[in-house]
Amino acid sequence: MSLLVDNIGELVTNDPAPGDGPLGLVPEAAVVLEAREVVWVGPADAAPAADQRIDAGGGAVLPGFVDSHSHLVFAGDRAAEFAARMAGERYDGGGILTTVAATRAADDEALRATAVRLRAEALRQGTTTIEIKSGYGLTVADEARSLKIAFEVSPESTFLGAHLVPPEYAGRADDYVALVCGEMLAAAEPYARWVDVFCERGAFDADQSRAVLAAGMARGLGARVHANQLSAGPGVRLAVELGAASADHCAHLGEADIEALAGSSTVATLVPGAEFSTRSPYPDARRLLDAGATVALATDCNPGTSYTSSMSLCVALAVREMRMTPAEAVWAATAGGARALRREDVGTLRPGARADLVVLSAPSYVHLAYRPGVPLVRQVIHNGVVA
Ligand code: NIG
Ligand code: FE
Repeated sequence: MSLLVDNIGELVTNDPAPGDGPLGLVPEAAVVLEAREVVWVGPADAAPAADQRIDAGGGAVLPGFVDSHSHLVFAGDRAAEFAARMAGERYDGGGILTTVAATRAADDEALRATAVRLRAEALRQGTTTIEIKSGYGLTVADEARSLKIAFEVSPESTFLGAHLVPPEYAGRADDYVALVCGEMLAAAEPYARWVDVFCERGAFDADQSRAVLAAGMARGLGARVHANQLSAGPGVRLAVELGAASADHCAHLGEADIEALAGSSTVATLVPGAEFSTRSPYPDARRLLDAGATVALATDCNPGTSYTSSMSLCVALAVREMRMTPAEAVWAATAGGARALRREDVGTLRPGARADLVVLSAPSYVHLAYRPGVPLVRQVIHNGVVA
């Protein structure tokens, strides 16, 4: 069964071959999907016939968003903590333990229901690929069940047992790291594609972070790092040193960090929802881009620092607050996210790519930043199926 999407006012392919610029723009375009794949892309007047047709109504079409950083397995919410911050309190990561306590107390069904609900919420807003981390369990059993749930919801699942030292290990961080690298990793690994660590003062230092990432990599997991979120620490350089797919947050970067990222295949994943919700300075994406680093945008959806599943919001914030152009931001939210997950099959619309696309009720991708807060995603096709 083939599906023709036509009457596309502006098509973002992220493939320079058929179109214009890095977004590979094709005006007055059509796309044909078959068996979960894109099979044809080009000008509408040259489109082949197909079994079914969707009329994009002159709207823009882009690849589905690739959200490469989220924490959807948790219980409870922290609206009061958010309100306190907006009244002047500082974020220091301590609230993570509030969610750890709530998550440990929740049964599997409650955790699964929240993750499934948030995944569906993201899909409605155009996110067709999403990475999901554990990290609110912090015991062997709670991390294993968190990962199992994450993996049920998305194949891009990440073991974040090293999110924070839990209270029962207070003053014994190295013992906790040994648990993470040993029994906890062994229990989580069957459900994980990635290993992550919160490399930050008050969480895990460079040596502890290196040990966690190396243990995960030795078991075949890819590395990603919560790096330089709250201070200019060693996280980014460690991520580059280990060949991590992504260094995430990157809010406090020195010249050496930027140079390291620019000379590497490690993607700088920026999560402006976190700066928004913690009222912190935004990272300067312009410096990273001008240096030649690859930048991705992600939501960091979690109940503490960024309780949004909206990639459109991230695009708008990146343009307004991080000196990205609308084209750079849309690329970062699609192809950039795919790079951060080392995926070739998503984030672009070219023959052979997965049939994931978003139809906007707007004539151009620029409207994602130009009309902030407006639900412009009119239709989502995920894996060839209208979602
Ligand atoms: O990405 N930095 C660490 N982890 C999360 C925050 C989690 C929380 O506050 O619950 C983040 O911002
Ligand atoms: Fe995060």
